[in-house]
Amino acid sequence: MAPVPLSPVKVGHIDDVQELRNAKPTTIPERFVRDMTERPTLATALSSTSDIPVIDFSKLIKGDKDEVHSEILKLGIACEEWGFFQVINHDIELSLLESIEKLAKEFFMLPLEEKQKYPMIPGTLQGYGQAFVFSEDQKLDWCNMFALGVEPQYIRNPKLWPTKPAKFSETVELYSKEVRALCNDLLKYIAMSLGLRQQAFEEMFGVAVQAIRMNYYPACSRPDLVLGLSPHSDGSALTVLQQGKGSSVGLQILKDNTWVPVQPIPNALVINIGDTIEVLSNGKYKSVEHRAVTHKEKDRLSLVTFYAPSYEIELGPMPEFVDESNPCKYRRYNHGEYSKHYVTSKLQGKKALDFAKIHTKISN
Ligand code: OGA
Ligand code: NI
Repeated sequence: MAPVPLSPVKVGHIDDVQELRNAKPTTIPERFVRDMTERPTLATALSSTSDIPVIDFSKLIKGDKDEVHSEILKLGIACEEWGFFQVINHDIELSLLESIEKLAKEFFMLPLEEKQKYPMIPGTLQGYGQAFVFSEDQKLDWCNMFALGVEPQYIRNPKLWPTKPAKFSETVELYSKEVRALCNDLLKYIAMSLGLRQQAFEEMFGVAVQAIRMNYYPACSRPDLVLGLSPHSDGSALTVLQQGKGSSVGLQILKDNTWVPVQPIPNALVINIGDTIEVLSNGKYKSVEHRAVTHKEKDRLSLVTFYAPSYEIELGPMPEFVDESNPCKYRRYNHGEYSKHYVTSKLQGKKALDFAKIHTKISN
């Protein structure tokens, strides 16, 4: 999806994490061992009162007036206070969720030589490998990734669409259509929760860019030392995450300085606000930092769709969200440039958004 950087990136040797796990090393290779401050601690929220909000999609689209109204209110609170929510009773067929998951698992179970027919070039975000690695001394995530640009057509690299397992590519296509429709619908209700017209985002985004990333987190003998995925916010407008059935709990979001695990709900989809919505709403809805941790015995699979405006779109806070008490927090920028910046920087919390932040001086 991203343009290939001008100078080749030196990333050093990157172990394939599934192969590494199969080799059962007695110690975790140094490149995966996080510095003390980055290690996942056990001090994560435990109580169910800290579960992320659940939105009933059927109430939004089929509910009576009161139900629609109260679900939109709930959605607004979820976006404002959490930046994350789970959607139940969405319209995507369960059989489709099951097929994509099954095929993704089959893909990751293929021999390494087969997966390496679709290599992720360092500094880009499509194909099989480790994304966001830009130097030889950078710590690595305990994760194998496979990513594809899906829409619009011109971002596709057809050489990276696998021929094995059979039906993989057509299922990605079918799944992506459904998730696209869901994103479109959710953005309508998110716009309404912000007091905007339903179509506000759709009209602004042009032909939305959509990509899919499959993350495979093998079990790790020392989950206390490694991270499955480094803390980051998503550079998208909206992200839709499907957690593999029977997978371990692994996704965590940073809320009030505590890492809160996202407990999977069967057949629900996890949605989060990306950087685009944070900018457009001038920070009213924020993209929340999240990460993935690993499990001692269980592997974990997640299927993640990123939905974002067209690259040529200029973005900045909408005037509706800027006034004297809410000064403009972000400059206007071209979304394509932001995407390029995002995919060519290492994942580091919310640092990517510094690209657009206006740093107000205290004096004046
Ligand atoms: C991502 C992401 C979390 C997960 O791919 O951007 O946040 O649980 N994934 O895989
Ligand atoms: Ni993410």
